[in-house]
Amino acid sequence: MSTSTPAPIGVAAALATRADSSITPREQLWDQFKLTDRVGLVTGANRGLGLEAALVLLEAGARAVYCIDLPTEPGEEWKAVHDYVVRLGTGGRLEYISQDVTDQKAMWEVAQKIGDKEGRLDVGVAAAGIALVGKSCLEYPADEFQKGLNVNTNGVLYTAQAVGRQMVRFGLPGSIILLASIAGTVSLRGLESLPYSTSKSALLQMGRTMACELGPKRIRVNTLSPGFIHTEMLQPLIDSFLPQWSSENPLGRIATPDEMRGVIAWLASDASSYCTGSDIVVDGGHHTW
Ligand SMILES: NC(=O)c1ccc[n+]([C@@H]2O[C@H](COP(=O)([O-])OP(=O)(O)OC[C@H]3O[C@@H](n4cnc5c(N)ncnc54)[C@H](O)[C@@H]3O)[C@@H](O)[C@H]2O)c1
Repeated sequence: MSTSTPAPIGVAAALATRADSSITPREQLWDQFKLTDRVGLVTGANRGLGLEAALVLLEAGARAVYCIDLPTEPGEEWKAVHDYVVRLGTGGRLEYISQDVTDQKAMWEVAQKIGDKEGRLDVGVAAAGIALVGKSCLEYPADEFQKGLNVNTNGVLYTAQAVGRQMVRFGLPGSIILLASIAGTVSLRGLESLPYSTSKSALLQMGRTMACELGPKRIRVNTLSPGFIHTEMLQPLIDSFLPQWSSENPLGRIATPDEMRGVIAWLASDASSYCTGSDIVVDGGHHTW
């Protein structure tokens, strides 16, 4: 086997080394973001960041995206996005399945059925989560602490397992995105958030560990750690905390859900083909202060 340094490969290198200028000029970058014919599963996707992620996958050309959430029927926000996707005219389908992510067997079966129907499952976004806050770390009752971990940590694992098992089944590469939070790395000032922070911290190591095991199977696993984003999850706290949260980052404001679109498109697609086991922080600079 040759030990010589491999020649550089890539669009820029090819352009520089091709004397005959045979490369046809066309946009190369956006091709890498395309999810043409791919199939996604997104949890917590009846609303908020999960629904935003589902829309991103469809806009990038996915054939179908399955939204998993608790309500038996999808809500108005989901229906509006569904209608929008139809009007987009890409042919992509937004589907809804009512399922609790804390049921491991059921989650595996949901993904199995999607695999049976679609013949593939390429992208998984584990966005289902709950915000358990508001009690002292010395007082948090066992049942509430366990509930936080059950949804935010166990449920994310069961989702990643469900999706990863289908990726292995079909022998295709895939991307799994675990919705963590800056709360997994830094403490949220003034907010008693022990279950939430603990559950998110666990996801960082879950992502790294799964990435190492699944890398040889071409399955990438990364965590996304946003700062404060104005979704329903924050609504009960927004009046009390908005000025403080806005002042805690250099941009001087909290985020809107659509500001996660770019990073989700990147992580889900081949544009991030060499990124695995990473925690991508998108927090307006919150962690720097
Ligand atoms: N909003 C933020 O500021 C923020 C910041 C960092 C990370 N996050 C994370 O992003 C993810 C999405 O949050 P969001 O802001 O969109 O919140 P959200 O409350 O708007 O959406 C969460 C969704 O998860 C669903 N869900 C909860 N428990 C479930 C279960 N057991 N099974 C299936 N679905 C369940 C809810 O029904 C809801 O639709 C969460 O994991 C959250 O922790 C949010």
